[in-house]
Amino acid sequence: MSSRSAVSVCGIALSNPVIAASGTYGYGVEFKRLADLGEIGGIVVKGLSREPMDGNPAPRLYETSSGMINSVGLQNIGVRAFAAEKLPELRGAGPAIFANVFGYAVDDYTEVVRVLEDAEGVAAYELNVSCPNTKHGGIYFSTDCALLSELVAAVRRVAKRPVIVKLSPNVARIEPFACAAEDAGADAISLVNTFVALAIDAETRRPRIGAGFGGLSGPAIKPIALRMVYEAARAVKIPVIGMGGIANGIDAAEFLIAGASAVEVGTANFWDPESPVRIARELDRFLERQKLASVRDLVGTLKMN
Ligand SMILES: Cc1cc2nc3c(=O)[nH]c(=O)nc-3n(C[C@H](O)[C@H](O)[C@H](O)COP(=O)(O)O)c2cc1C
Repeated sequence: MSSRSAVSVCGIALSNPVIAASGTYGYGVEFKRLADLGEIGGIVVKGLSREPMDGNPAPRLYETSSGMINSVGLQNIGVRAFAAEKLPELRGAGPAIFANVFGYAVDDYTEVVRVLEDAEGVAAYELNVSCPNTKHGGIYFSTDCALLSELVAAVRRVAKRPVIVKLSPNVARIEPFACAAEDAGADAISLVNTFVALAIDAETRRPRIGAGFGGLSGPAIKPIALRMVYEAARAVKIPVIGMGGIANGIDAAEFLIAGASAVEVGTANFWDPESPVRIARELDRFLERQKLASVRDLVGTLKMN
């Protein structure tokens, strides 16, 4: 990869701005045989919780027009097993390692971060805030600015590494949430997570997904994700990491033009595990064609009017 693709996001040096998105690239190590991990800017590992979780009943995935609905239910081996068994193998593979963290109460998040603080090789934390706060009547952290601020401030107090807050698109306006995260001490924000969705089997009159609702991702959501990344990037000074339906280098360029400093690639990994590598190369070729010396020259260059 050429030096024009190199970026730094909240102090983390990436060889290129393309990162594999959480929940779509396992713990990274499973992809060692499938893709050259050294060519990927970063990997966000599967969401990590305090204790192991079994996840939701099958079916967990359903393909839609240009997209996919999932309700995996955040199945994972728990933060301690990740730190002991997966992280040592992933460390040194090349990409920056981002730990995606979730929980159902503020102290679930702080506990996961506390465990990871003792582990070597994690570049930053990405907080998945699209979870209900079971101590506050099940209100989602991602849909209540006060809950979001409380969570981010609490994690900020225990984390020495950068904290990235991953916002949900399931809100009327994204700006207040982007600003709440920034004001509470986030080093960056990432968006979008999936859109709450429903697929129905007309024959059985049942949902196609075992848990009922699921999250829509993939190319179908890209135009909405681009709009939200643009709005969020205009509202904050901290870096924005954009995602939602990115499938090629030009898609990635569009997110950078909308104001993102880096991008994540999720659903595309399901049909091509080498997607992040391919997309990084395609983006690099786009920069060359555009005669841009650095990927930074593309960030936030949308000519809206
Ligand atoms: C199967 C699946 C599992 C996911 N698991 C997580 C997760 O554990 N934590 C998280 O923050 N986002 C999770 N996501 C959301 C993705 O990281 C990403 O935000 C979303 O899919 C939009 O990007 P895409 O259209 O490129 O997939 C998951 C998405 C999919 C498809």
